[in-house]
Amino acid sequence: MRRSPGYGATLSEQIYVGADHAGFRLKQKLVDELARLGYEPVDVGPKALDPADDFPDYGRPVAAAVSEGKVRRGILTCGTGLGMAFVANRFPHVRAAVAWSPEIAELARRHNDANVLVLPARFVSEEEGMEILHKWLDTTFEGGRHERRVAKIDS
Ligand code: RB5
Repeated sequence: MRRSPGYGATLSEQIYVGADHAGFRLKQKLVDELARLGYEPVDVGPKALDPADDFPDYGRPVAAAVSEGKVRRGILTCGTGLGMAFVANRFPHVRAAVAWSPEIAELARRHNDANVLVLPARFVSEEEGMEILHKWLDTTFEGGRHERRVAKIDS
């Protein structure tokens, strides 16, 4: 079985993905890109653009799946990324990072072991979103001194 570069995960890994109306378009691209890369995206919705939808309704199922250990990673997107991060980081063991550049995504993985990527759809282009996604998927946690710090989040 082929393995994803750097992360050690099998390419059939399930990754939960959710958005609100502001992130809907980007979410569709993320789901397509994950499938193209050989992952198994689980799209919790929305299935259609609804300008009146609320981010917590889609952030919670993604965060819950990661928190309960059902999957290792999740991806969320809303306008600023902030609302989704607020929701996701209330769940035990979830470390949701808003990443607006590949460098932030890389550090979120290397130093923070971020298991939920949050994209601010109104502040990144689709192309930037894909670059951020790739960096986050393929960067490993450095461990070492960061292990101790990450452990203290839940202590
Ligand atoms: C929706 O208009 C917007 O508030 C939402 O997508 C998000 O940015 C909230 O944090």
